[in-house]
Amino acid sequence: MRRAKISIIGAGNVGASCAVWAAAKELGDIVLVDIPDFADKTKGKALDLAQCSPIERFDANILGTSDYADTAGSDVVIITAGIPRKPGMSRDDLVQTNVKIVGSVSEQIAKHAPEAVLIIVSNPLDAMVYTAWQKTDFPTQRVIGQAGCLDIARYRTFIAMELNCSVEDITALLMGGHGDDMVPLPRYTSVAGIPVTQFIAKERLDEIIKRAKMGGGEIVKLMGTSAYYAPASGSVQMAEAIIKDKRRILPCAAYCNEEYGVGGYFVGVPCMLGKNGIEKIIEVELDTEERKLLDSSVAHVKELVELAEGFMKG
Ligand code: APR
Repeated sequence: MRRAKISIIGAGNVGASCAVWAAAKELGDIVLVDIPDFADKTKGKALDLAQCSPIERFDANILGTSDYADTAGSDVVIITAGIPRKPGMSRDDLVQTNVKIVGSVSEQIAKHAPEAVLIIVSNPLDAMVYTAWQKTDFPTQRVIGQAGCLDIARYRTFIAMELNCSVEDITALLMGGHGDDMVPLPRYTSVAGIPVTQFIAKERLDEIIKRAKMGGGEIVKLMGTSAYYAPASGSVQMAEAIIKDKRRILPCAAYCNEEYGVGGYFVGVPCMLGKNGIEKIIEVELDTEERKLLDSSVAHVKELVELAEGFMKG
């Protein structure tokens, strides 16, 4: 059987962590790509990770490179290239820089790995997925943003901490944009099938939701740079669902046109992920309050995309 191939663009904190999780799960061969200035560093990281294989017991070829030709034949490409958010940096500065980086990376991927399913991680996520789609012209089914898997993991972590119970038993659903813009749905959050509201009072749950929304900022403040273990873990969770054609239902930034009445933007929604990328977008019932939250989140996503479009043209 042919091994799957995963290319990870950007071998920094998030990219290298993606490689570690993907190798540990033995998802396939891994190609780590970074800019030519970091060619040696990238090769070094790949070699270092390969040398974990006898201990962690995975068989995979791991390559560090700055040549996009090495991504040919990739099943999945995870894009983490770009600068992370630094304390005090404006959103516009981040968009401007990362639109350029993600745009040029996407053009290279379209050329060398035209059949791949793309998972975008670079921030601001909602605008970067749009950029990657514009620059690759891939079918929307194969352009997916990672945000929800991370946001929901943060939310589940905080609920498990609160209840002192296993995170495995917390299931949840959230929608909308990334981070501050996410729309958690307590009505669809359960602890081993029992509604979370039977365990946690509304006021306390609101505080937990707030912490999950600001989860990225909390880490930036502590570390001086953005998170990487959990963003990488969320990305590899998606890659695994695609590579193994698991048809898992995960919250992803997916292109929604008629779905939820979004009208042609990438927004966090529950998706079924399989070998073709997004196999299905699931439309859940929303009450008036949830609908309002989603609409306001979508409005923010549109603002971000307009900003990115301006920089793409400029
Ligand atoms: N091609 C390939 N790699 C690139 C390119 C490019 N054109 N431009 C930049 N990179 C690489 C950088 O050289 C760097 O190694 O992307 C890497 C980014 O790594 P870090 O600076 O460590 O940033 P990281 O914390 O990994 O975050 C990357 O993911 O979660 C998001 O907000 C985060 O947008 C940020 C991205």
